[in-house]
Amino acid sequence: MNTNSFQLRHIGPNKKEQEKMLQTIKADSLEQLINETVPDNIRLKTDLDLAPAMSEYEYLQHINELANKNKVFKSYIGLGYHEAIVPSVIQRNILENPGWYTAYTPYQAEIAQGRLEALLNFQTMICDLTGMELANASLLDESTAAAEAMALLFDVRERAKKKAGANKFFVSDEILPQTLSILQTRSTPIGIELVIGSHEDFDFGDDYFGAVLQYPGKLGQIFDYESFVAKATENDIKVAVAADILSLVKLKAPGEFGASVVVGTSQRFGIPLGYGGPHAAFFATKDEYKRSIPGRIIGVTKDMNGKRALRMALQTREQHIKRERATSNICTAQVLLAVMAGMYAVFHGKKGIQFIADSVHNKTKLVANYLEKAGFKQLNSSYFDTLLVEIDALRLKPVAESFKVNFNYVSDSLVSISINEATTEKDLMQLFTIFGQLKPRPNPLNDDFSGSFSQILTEKPFHSNFEVIADNVARNTPFLENEIFNTYQSETAMMRYIKKLERKDLALNHSMISLGSCTMKLNAASEMLPLSNPQWGNIHPFVPLNQAQGYQEVLQKLEHQLNIITGFAGTSLQPNSGAQGEFAGLMTIRAYHQSRNESHRNICLIPASAHGTNPASAVMAGMKVIVTKTAENGNIDVEDMREKAALHADNLAALMVTYPSTHGVFESEIQEITKIIHKHGGQVYMDGANMNAQVGLTNPATIGADVCHLNLHKTFAIPHGGGGPGVGPICVAPQLVPFLPTNPIVKIGGKQAITAISGAPWGSALVCLISYGYITMLGFRGLTNATKMAILNANYIKERLNGHYETLYTGEKGRAAHEMIIDCREFKNNGIEVVDIAKRLMDYGFHAPTVSFPVNGTMMIEPTESESIAELDRFCDAMIAIREEIKNASSENENNPLKNSPHTQEMLTADEWIYPYTRKQAAFPLEYIADNKFWPTVRRVDDAFGDRNLICSCNPIEDYM
Ligand SMILES: Cc1ncc(COP(=O)(O)O)c(C=O)c1O
Repeated sequence: MNTNSFQLRHIGPNKKEQEKMLQTIKADSLEQLINETVPDNIRLKTDLDLAPAMSEYEYLQHINELANKNKVFKSYIGLGYHEAIVPSVIQRNILENPGWYTAYTPYQAEIAQGRLEALLNFQTMICDLTGMELANASLLDESTAAAEAMALLFDVRERAKKKAGANKFFVSDEILPQTLSILQTRSTPIGIELVIGSHEDFDFGDDYFGAVLQYPGKLGQIFDYESFVAKATENDIKVAVAADILSLVKLKAPGEFGASVVVGTSQRFGIPLGYGGPHAAFFATKDEYKRSIPGRIIGVTKDMNGKRALRMALQTREQHIKRERATSNICTAQVLLAVMAGMYAVFHGKKGIQFIADSVHNKTKLVANYLEKAGFKQLNSSYFDTLLVEIDALRLKPVAESFKVNFNYVSDSLVSISINEATTEKDLMQLFTIFGQLKPRPNPLNDDFSGSFSQILTEKPFHSNFEVIADNVARNTPFLENEIFNTYQSETAMMRYIKKLERKDLALNHSMISLGSCTMKLNAASEMLPLSNPQWGNIHPFVPLNQAQGYQEVLQKLEHQLNIITGFAGTSLQPNSGAQGEFAGLMTIRAYHQSRNESHRNICLIPASAHGTNPASAVMAGMKVIVTKTAENGNIDVEDMREKAALHADNLAALMVTYPSTHGVFESEIQEITKIIHKHGGQVYMDGANMNAQVGLTNPATIGADVCHLNLHKTFAIPHGGGGPGVGPICVAPQLVPFLPTNPIVKIGGKQAITAISGAPWGSALVCLISYGYITMLGFRGLTNATKMAILNANYIKERLNGHYETLYTGEKGRAAHEMIIDCREFKNNGIEVVDIAKRLMDYGFHAPTVSFPVNGTMMIEPTESESIAELDRFCDAMIAIREEIKNASSENENNPLKNSPHTQEMLTADEWIYPYTRKQAAFPLEYIADNKFWPTVRRVDDAFGDRNLICSCNPIEDYM
């Protein structure tokens, strides 16, 4: 075996196994299978024009060399991003642990209790700090969370406001620039008018439905918003507050002064800067808005035995994302990062978080004191961690940079300085030295203070020397009082707590997760390793480009690689998820039509089988959705499409199409379909969720698309992290390149760029390293082979299940693409629903395939290329065994292994066994299971109970007493 070949490690079946599989599916060669699967008219005629593969060893050297091109400065830039200390116990046991990062979104609650608990901790922490009743389990970043708040407030307008057409949203001029840019992007298409101004001059007019404030303001000043919110409330204007999470330890919680929504980022709770992301945003609101909250909420329920269990609340609503009535399209969020931020609070505990906030605040006061004594004017009268200083910025900048320090240069005479957890004594002395070069003064420690430096930073006397947080804005309510935040302060205890939760969850490091459309492939260690390197982790997104040369090289190369793979001309890495990519792509289409004086084009055709995010994104982009029919064979009904395109020709904006289709088929008429759209003046958006079946064989440009998003967290090996991070870049044809999105601080994007899609210029740059590693280590040959093997693996499963399960759709030559749908509807005759199969699979050690998407009552299986024949066989054996169990089940008697599944250890070892089958049949029905048994820790959870009694934070402290 060539140990230099990453391809051989990434692809599951070896050559011999491939031959066996080809025999099973009755294909003479892999090439024959591919010819029978991918229509000839769309096949690429040449290899991908990409470099050959690097070995893992070469790649790790290469990526380290690039890392060294980044200059890690001390960044006091702030603006929503702060250097943070990742506790080593969290880095090692979560960030670097496939047990956490390879898990899927916790739809299957019984095998996800660990991350559900971690997310419930996150929600509790957010509720406590914001003073709100309800929080979700993360959004993509602070700026998009603010836009979600605006959309929610628009949606929940009082009836009178709706009737009167109140559509103005007030945005404080203290808002972060990137948030303003995203509010602009999101407001215009849905008819919201932004009015930007000082909150002190706001007139509370009837035509306003909402407002957003920044707390503290973008340059650090703390404002008392209480009377503003009171007056707004009197006038039925609802207020969202974008708050800094650490400052909330010391500041009055926005919930206490009447905010309707509080958003922000949890990045500074132990998440690397990573040149902009990924970081988990939070979204907290009042109970009354629980049915409108965007994103996923973790809730408390009970299992079949009445035992407390956790689940994703209101799950069915989330899955459909309200399609045409959507106010949000959020799907993938930032789960892994939310888990880490929640764990940061668990590890430090209430006292530790208080210490960190006090220490950051005291360090800031120390710097303020120094600056004032040195004769600089510090303009913030009340602040937490950020100072605004009048200074000759043009003189300061080169001095600071010579000391490897960045500030936020607001103007030629104004600089803001944000102090953070990672600012050490040495860093403070360095700051004094830098300012001393502009205005010399003696060592500040001699004349200002007595006692040691660390005392100065943390102890009360200095603290009380001067107060800059007045009583009216100071926090005086408790937070993080739950036992969970006051138990795990030793590393041993923390390590065991993380392990305890990890063991409750089934992730890719246990077995195959064959989720159709979700592409749970290997997330290789060599792709992941660079994420731990501070040369990548410690770069603020707004540093000058010359400090991020390593990043720039990787991002540009990745953009180039994606251009080649899609056949397109330009790429934007800004979107942080597939759904956000959809919105970004549609917004470029919108801008394109506008640039041609065709802004009336607003009809978006979407096939009935599309994922719920497609219509949701279209609505957010101001388009009207027309659904087109599915033909008998699962394909797009071309005649219906032709008719609708012609009917709406004058106003046709776009078609959104998933290819290969969500039914797992390469439709041979795809070029005909895209031609129809172009003929009528529309652009074609391709949802790239199924790109794993295209890479190297065909591409979106060839099928006739104009723009697509790619899910780097599916096709390009970024792990799912339990529901995020994601990266959803868009790749576009030449006519759309001018409209690629920009950023208000770092000017990027096209010549007529749309405003920002995410807060950071390159979205979640840190995890883009993973996809870059994946493509670079596979090379052009490996990428194409991976696609072929994904198709072979799927067809092998199809063949093995043949006779037991019916495959709903296949291509013209009877082949599946990279995934297939099996029909489980007829099992209803035996009283068995598809969800029973999903739960029973847990007893066999497997996570269910995708359930009831895109067709109700079915399962969509996608094995990926990374699974070996042995694992595919175990899965097929399990499915076949379950099929036999179904035969024995009956709707008259529900006491059977399927209905009772999953079986827990507690059940199995109970003194009493009340079931008409053996314990072995319950938990060890096949031989392979005993060797590697996975135990679900709860029985089947009660979905309806959880939704009826929505509790989404940890139990009150009294429950623990
Ligand atoms: C076909 C399809 N489109 C879009 C999406 C949305 O992608 P994301 O979850 O990254 O927002 C998904 C996610 O599962 C999908 O399967």
